Amino acid sequence: MGQMEGLDVLACERCEELCESRTRIVNGVGPADADLLFVGEAPGANEDEQGKPFVGRSGDVLDETLREVGLDRGDVRITNCVRCRPPENRDPHKEELANCREYLETEIDRVDPEVVVTLGKVPAQHLLERDVAVTSEAGDVADVTIQGSPQPVMICVHPAATLYDSSQKGTFEDTLRKAAEFTDGESGQRRLGDF
Ligand code: URA
Repeated sequence: MGQMEGLDVLACERCEELCESRTRIVNGVGPADADLLFVGEAPGANEDEQGKPFVGRSGDVLDETLREVGLDRGDVRITNCVRCRPPENRDPHKEELANCREYLETEIDRVDPEVVVTLGKVPAQHLLERDVAVTSEAGDVADVTIQGSPQPVMICVHPAATLYDSSQKGTFEDTLRKAAEFTDGESGQRRLGDF
């Protein structure tokens, strides 16, 4: 059972274990027509408590790096593959990812961003449906079919990776800069096309 209104899942009981471990469903945040849509893995403790994605340390890194490339959290949309916190922050199981995919695809389809940026291995592999080496493939873009339409998806490392391995900081920043330029280029072309 699931119930979605606009971009939000209001009620869902598809995953028995996650219904137990969550405090609440954590929906995406940010403009409903954002050019950039970031997709993480699943809410952690902070996200579960506050009901918003990326509000802990990873969120701080994301916010800081967005600012470094000239963007603000309020300019972009941020969501997760799975909307309920898994117990002890384990990775979401395959069935949980599959149960939540309809919501993610609906959100991507309705927001219709210029580019989806995957934060970490789980969302990259989930959307691209293959093994992904996120560090070496960071910044690469592939079209993924979302509800019948091609959607550009850019691979990116998880912001938390920069906390454990400082060499990932540059990779993360370069990818966000590329994503920001991607949206500039696309919307620029669109604007020219309007004349
Ligand atoms: N990590 C994620 O993948 N998602 C969040 O919302 C927070 C941390």
